[in-house]
Amino acid sequence: MSVYILGIESSCDDTSAAVFKDETILSNRVANQEVHKDYGGVVPELASRAHQQNIIPVVDKAIKDAGITAADINAVAYTRGPGLMGSLLVGTSFAKGFSLANNIPMIDVNHLHAHVLAHFIKEQNEETEHPEFPFLCLLVSGGNSQIVLVKSHLDMEVVGQTIDDAAGEAFDKCAKVMGLPYPGGPLIDKLAKEGNPEAFTFSKPRIKGYDYSFSGLKTSFLYFLRDQLKENPDFIEENKKDLCASLQKTIIDILLDKLQLAAKDLKINQVALAGGVSANSGLRIGLENLAIHKKWKTFIPKFAYTTDNAAMVAVSGYYKYRLSQFVEHDAAPFSRVVF
Ligand code: KG4
Repeated sequence: MSVYILGIESSCDDTSAAVFKDETILSNRVANQEVHKDYGGVVPELASRAHQQNIIPVVDKAIKDAGITAADINAVAYTRGPGLMGSLLVGTSFAKGFSLANNIPMIDVNHLHAHVLAHFIKEQNEETEHPEFPFLCLLVSGGNSQIVLVKSHLDMEVVGQTIDDAAGEAFDKCAKVMGLPYPGGPLIDKLAKEGNPEAFTFSKPRIKGYDYSFSGLKTSFLYFLRDQLKENPDFIEENKKDLCASLQKTIIDILLDKLQLAAKDLKINQVALAGGVSANSGLRIGLENLAIHKKWKTFIPKFAYTTDNAAMVAVSGYYKYRLSQFVEHDAAPFSRVVF
């Protein structure tokens, strides 16, 4: 018998709800929060308030889009962490209320696992190819940069991760230094398309194993600009496209070098991308080129499933539902993952 899952995502600054019938998506609504643009980054308290305003209309629309009613839903899956505590509390509290009101179980979802499982979302009337286990997933977002060895839907091992900033943070912080609005990643991507990636060279970290570090790059970018601006106050304006292209190339090289190493050592030839930074066109092209060279099979999610969304939470919830992995109503969210 088919199972209907309502997914709720509220870990950062996107309020999202999705309805699934088994692994197939029926609806996915996302309310973005424009309010943070003026501050150059996500302001946690404003994010929590916006989630409070958005959550009921977003869920209501997702259920209506799916052509069902709340009474048809078998379980509610929600992001328990990691994320901003105030934001997580809104989704968690909503999920508890929905679960109690409809007398259905609640399923807690790890936000990072959900990004990986976005690769298993099935579209209605569409054949989608999914990765086969085991595969490697490069999970790159505003808060995380990880290489994950995915052994099954619910068995994942982080084999490498950032020891400081995430790749998305590197994009956003360097964009801020150049005076670009938040989030800077998409803008750097756009400007980089018209710039020369070889124009400038920035330092790359020397970290052992499969771990990443991006704080040194951010600092070297900042010092480089500070020195250049002393000579020429218009340096950024005159070189913006080349700066973006060179910075983007450095970030991509760092990401793909470690991915390559992990794939070689672990003898994996199926590689996937996930998280907000996987929307980056240079990273997508870089991975495809590497895949030809290494004979990898690659998987890149649809744009809508790269950034934060509830579809990935609902599909994760579905796999836990099949194993009756439910959570009690006293479950508290975690800003860092411990479940
Ligand atoms: O996964 P996500 O939506 O949020 C979390 O961090 O959980 O990722 C957001 C991050 C931001 O840092 C944003 O700048 C980056 O993804 N991003 C991009 C692009 N689109 C989004 N970075 C580079 N190029 C892009 N096209």
